[in-house]
Amino acid sequence: MEVGCGLLNREARRWGFGVTLTLMLCLSMRVYIHGVSEDQYAFMGDLKNMILGISVGEISPQHHDVDAKKHAKNVVSPNLTTCHESVPRPGLSVYCCPPKPESEEPFIDFQFPDPSSPLRLRRAAHLVDDDYIAKYRNAVSIMKSLPYDDPRSFLSQANLHCIYCTGAYKQKNSDIPLHVHRSWLFFPWHRMMLYFHERILGSLIGDDSFALPFWNWDNPDGMVIPEMYVTGSLVDTDRENSHLPPQVVDLNYNLQEKGLGPEEQIKINMALMYTQMVSGAKTTELFMGCPYKGGEGGFCEGPGTIELAPHNTLHDWTGTGLNPGREDMGSFYSAGRDPIFYGHHGNVDRLWEVWRRLQWEYYNSEITDTEWLDSYFFFHDEKRQLVRIKFQDVVNITRLRYAYEEVELPWLNARPRPSVPPKIARDILKMRDLDHENNQELPSSPFLSADFGPHGRTLDTTIRVKVHRPKKHRSKKQKDFKEEEVMVVYGIEVKEDSYVKFDVYVNAVDETLMVGPEFREFAGTFVNIPIGVWPVMRRKSNLKLGISELLQDLEADEDESIWVTLIPRAEDCMNVTIDGIRIEYIE
Ligand code: C2O
Repeated sequence: MEVGCGLLNREARRWGFGVTLTLMLCLSMRVYIHGVSEDQYAFMGDLKNMILGISVGEISPQHHDVDAKKHAKNVVSPNLTTCHESVPRPGLSVYCCPPKPESEEPFIDFQFPDPSSPLRLRRAAHLVDDDYIAKYRNAVSIMKSLPYDDPRSFLSQANLHCIYCTGAYKQKNSDIPLHVHRSWLFFPWHRMMLYFHERILGSLIGDDSFALPFWNWDNPDGMVIPEMYVTGSLVDTDRENSHLPPQVVDLNYNLQEKGLGPEEQIKINMALMYTQMVSGAKTTELFMGCPYKGGEGGFCEGPGTIELAPHNTLHDWTGTGLNPGREDMGSFYSAGRDPIFYGHHGNVDRLWEVWRRLQWEYYNSEITDTEWLDSYFFFHDEKRQLVRIKFQDVVNITRLRYAYEEVELPWLNARPRPSVPPKIARDILKMRDLDHENNQELPSSPFLSADFGPHGRTLDTTIRVKVHRPKKHRSKKQKDFKEEEVMVVYGIEVKEDSYVKFDVYVNAVDETLMVGPEFREFAGTFVNIPIGVWPVMRRKSNLKLGISELLQDLEADEDESIWVTLIPRAEDCMNVTIDGIRIEYIE
């Protein structure tokens, strides 16, 4: 059909009368197009655009065509014919593909729900009443009882996450495995998954106002596993036993039990939230992750603040250490099997909304990149109908007819303080500078350059290095608006994609002291949850950390350079190499 329509179009142009005819024909074919490959479908879209382009009198239709093709390539989407077994970690292969290939199913384009349909109000899991819990449990029980070949079944739902996190599909226009973590695909893809999951649950109990709960782990009252997940159909036995209530969550978890009292743990959690939501998240890329595009040249690995922690850290905290990949929650291929996954992601999704509201006044936090907006995925709705949905369809949750219960944001006031008064710290650091100049042979002597050379530097021990700041006197305007100073830990390579966590500090005077997010020197953390071992090359990751506010608080924002310390927090950091650290400015 592709050929047919193309030919028809050329003929039409030659004869000069056929634009309307072509348009009519192509549009009417579109009605019958369900069931043919999506390549053909996309082609129809391109063609329609092209024809419409001509009809409004564009000078160069060829140009338009080239642009449209490039655009189509950079848009991210799965190739539904490519689902295959995946290898989430060495020695483990899993097959999560749907029983019937999605490419053989007809699909429809997403339609917004009727604006007058009931608003689904997602409430905090620790605040809902018994009736709600009974209702939710009932819906999940029914979902679990559906046969596997029903796309609404609990296991099919869980496997969706497995497919898109382990690279089981290839991208539409290349051989690159598609995965939805570690980039700006993270928030919108998970929003889509939850949205359809919620609609299915609601329809199974005949309640079109049913809403998922969210695990409000950024609020002290929500910082334990909510009761509803501890019994009934919402239980998962593959969770860390010692983390069941009343254990307070460790949002900065590194697979080690720190043995802190609840108050101390809550204080650290709040400070981490502040860094990840406020001071470290002042640009869209810092919060959302790197701009992953379709095609060979387009993909990137650079997760945003919330994805790294608490998102990744809580996956690991919830899964059990008795399983090699901390399944269920601790590995992405299995995470969707734990009902708490949906509450965890409810909160992640909610924080995306919170962040947009917080940033709105100062920064333009909306992504306007059309390739992101046009990126699309496929999900089954409550009628088992396959639906094609674009990121632009999920940026406004009111249009999706759901909302979040307003809860307090206590971390807004949890701005951490320096561990040492800045004046004293500066004196100590100056001494270190002198030492460093006088005796470069000291065993503790830092690397002279923040570029670690062609082979990078292994993170088998703490790395401390001085990093030059290209702009030390930034105008007030630059500081107050838009331009954010960003530390980039670049070229991070994790061999075998193992579990890894390391923390980054600025101007820390004594790394041997127990320093964590509760101190202002903490700039951020890198947490790698394995997504799989693939034959094709992976990109190295970049960790980007917003540090403007931190530098002000440490009174270091006039300095020519800063000291940066990378501290490995997991044994597997021996598997990590880093190419270097530099400062950038992002608008
Ligand atoms: Cu797709 Cu919480 O992970």
